Amino acid sequence: MKKMITTLALAAFSAAALAQTPQLRADNIDEVLSAMTLREKAMLLVGELAANQNAQGTQIGNTERYIPGAAGNTYAIPRLGIPPTVMADGPAGLRIYTKRNYDSHTYNCTGFPIGTCLASTWDVDKVKEVTTAMGNEVLEYGVDVLLAPGNNIHRNPLCGRNFEYFSEDPVLSGNIAAAYINGVQSNGVGTSLKHYAFNNQETRRLGADARVSQRAAREIYLKPFEIAVKKAQPWTVMSSYNKVNGEYTNSRRDLLTDILRDEWGFQGIVVTDWGGFFDATKCISAGNDLVQPGSPDFINQIVEAVESGKLSQADVDTCVRRMLEYVVKTPRFRQYKFASRPDLKAHAQVVREAAADGTVLLKNEGGTLPFKGVKNVGLFGCGSYRPIAGGTGSGDVNKAYIVSLVEGLRCAGFHLDDNVVSEYTEYLKQYDEKMWKLEWWQRNPVAPEFIPKALAESAKQNDVAVITLQRQSGEGRDRLAADFDLDADDRALVAQVAEAFHKVGKKVVVVLNVGGAIETASWKDIPDAILLPWQCGQEIGHSIADMLAGKSAPSGHLPMTFPVKLTDHASTANFPLDSPDIGGWGDNHTDRKNIDYTEYEEGIYVGYRWFDKEALEVSYPFGYGLTYTTFAFDGLKLELQEGDKPAEDVVEVKINVKNTGAAAGKQVAQVYVSAPKGSVDKPVQELKGFAKTRLLQPGESQTLAIRIPAKDLASFHVKKSAWVTDAGTYTFRVGDNSRNILCESKLKIRKQQEKVSNSL
Ligand code: BGC
Repeated sequence: MKKMITTLALAAFSAAALAQTPQLRADNIDEVLSAMTLREKAMLLVGELAANQNAQGTQIGNTERYIPGAAGNTYAIPRLGIPPTVMADGPAGLRIYTKRNYDSHTYNCTGFPIGTCLASTWDVDKVKEVTTAMGNEVLEYGVDVLLAPGNNIHRNPLCGRNFEYFSEDPVLSGNIAAAYINGVQSNGVGTSLKHYAFNNQETRRLGADARVSQRAAREIYLKPFEIAVKKAQPWTVMSSYNKVNGEYTNSRRDLLTDILRDEWGFQGIVVTDWGGFFDATKCISAGNDLVQPGSPDFINQIVEAVESGKLSQADVDTCVRRMLEYVVKTPRFRQYKFASRPDLKAHAQVVREAAADGTVLLKNEGGTLPFKGVKNVGLFGCGSYRPIAGGTGSGDVNKAYIVSLVEGLRCAGFHLDDNVVSEYTEYLKQYDEKMWKLEWWQRNPVAPEFIPKALAESAKQNDVAVITLQRQSGEGRDRLAADFDLDADDRALVAQVAEAFHKVGKKVVVVLNVGGAIETASWKDIPDAILLPWQCGQEIGHSIADMLAGKSAPSGHLPMTFPVKLTDHASTANFPLDSPDIGGWGDNHTDRKNIDYTEYEEGIYVGYRWFDKEALEVSYPFGYGLTYTTFAFDGLKLELQEGDKPAEDVVEVKINVKNTGAAAGKQVAQVYVSAPKGSVDKPVQELKGFAKTRLLQPGESQTLAIRIPAKDLASFHVKKSAWVTDAGTYTFRVGDNSRNILCESKLKIRKQQEKVSNSL
């Protein structure tokens, strides 16, 4: 009896205590904040490290708790009604484990096109459609935040993660990133815009110092983040591993607070990249709210820093308040009942179709594509049999399948040369037996090329040859200089297949299954057609077959220049060309050029800005792309209109695009602006806007309207610490690539100036 009375009394006591303890709601965040202990606050700023991880060794996140294979979680504090939240990679789809202990269900996710392929669509609506499907998987698999998109500039073709990123141009990158975020977040889940910022090389990625001028920082490297934040308001931003101008990005208040929040109006949380540098005082006072994957040590560090007065309680509270604001937005907080059964079939169809929008047709001599009267195909290159759907590392997706070109072409009704298929099958079987000896970063890539014996016979029997060349890349390493060029095996394959087929009057198509730019100048004359589908997701074989057969038309345009030589890029002089070093963080080494530090000597002259300035010949210019029809541009009209704010002018560019060919197709209008001589050195031209038509039938036209705020024509003046649009006459040049300007017109613009902070 006595025991029962005690139990009842205790229950009454804890009910009363609970009644006084606020439970988190969207409208009582301050109340919850003031009910939190210092340790609870610290917990909320530190990821809940999974049992199988250790804080400093972890780079690619893999948790077991809640959603196995997700990258990281945040702590639950049940006393205050704070649920955990779950974050998972990105960017080519959701990365979680497909199998779970004691569970017969399979948790496959869709392998969507890589970032570079999405950017090649130049189509914000298409990107949004794709990422809306992607975000649905995030929601339906019980994840709160997708760790994507990757939005760093392709400074050099060799950066190992370019495939996850969009472009060498900030306006294209920023707008594609915004569309990506809007699509994912339309599902009521979050994104993480990453890696903020200057993560342009993988060599010594945890500690490399990007040494960059204020002007290049603002105009080239921060601009895509600025556009994405302003147009799409991601729930989270991920600070990068590296340093910029001597300090880790996650410790820079100027970057995380002054610029990101005060200037651009970012409302969400900043999370560190996984296992990077963390110093409680520096990071929290800079405005880095969450450290992932976390460690109990970091909780202690925060508590001690506050208790010793090194870290202010106010700074901690600012981050905790933002964390609570983030938590109340999540599906987990809303107690969303996810069923782990997204419509994978429907999403596969989205991927299959979107691939054509992002595939760039580089060459199509004599209308080789789409195939006409082709039945029998000789299928060459290991990549035809084992295509790469996406890159390695955290950007990889655990998908159910990848459709090969063999499967794709057969399903489309083509007959494949069985002798060639058998030779490749046998070759790849032997290759697999050697695979286990390779390092993790070598495992996914491609076998060295192999030349089937039956070439002459195959040329006789088949109507056409298709050769797939491929390149793999991934997180943690940069591509080697040799990876940019075709190696001897690739060259021999293209040369020998082409020789055999051309001899008997048959055509040769090369398919480039790559994640970034490669050398094309020395061999592009050999094949009749070159198709660049990138790594366009798990349906790659079907997508390519659709394009070859003319069921769909490639309509992508290059988001980067294809240079003649790697060394033509100014940045190549300051880029690790053959460094195998991944490196850790810390300051044990600080003086190895292009490893511990990299001088961005080329300043704003990245990509086409450099090639145009030097009038260098390129293999394929920025923005280039053919399709199965032709287009004419006319009726260019410029109109100065009032912007949202007084004194902010907007230029509306109208252009009429007409399909002048015999097939249906889509076209991209790209608006490049040349500035008048003014107060600073300006690039020859800069992309300031773009739009893509809908599918136009032969003879059909569409008028595209592209709005460009006059302040977007500004350059960053370091001395004035301001964005300045000089007054004068600007030339608006509209074309279908940066070196094919089809019409232009001039407009007088008045001066616009906006002062900002300037301290990187
Ligand atoms: C990558 C991030 C990724 C994180 C979590 C890191 O290695 O740099 O892009 O989101 O791992 O897996």
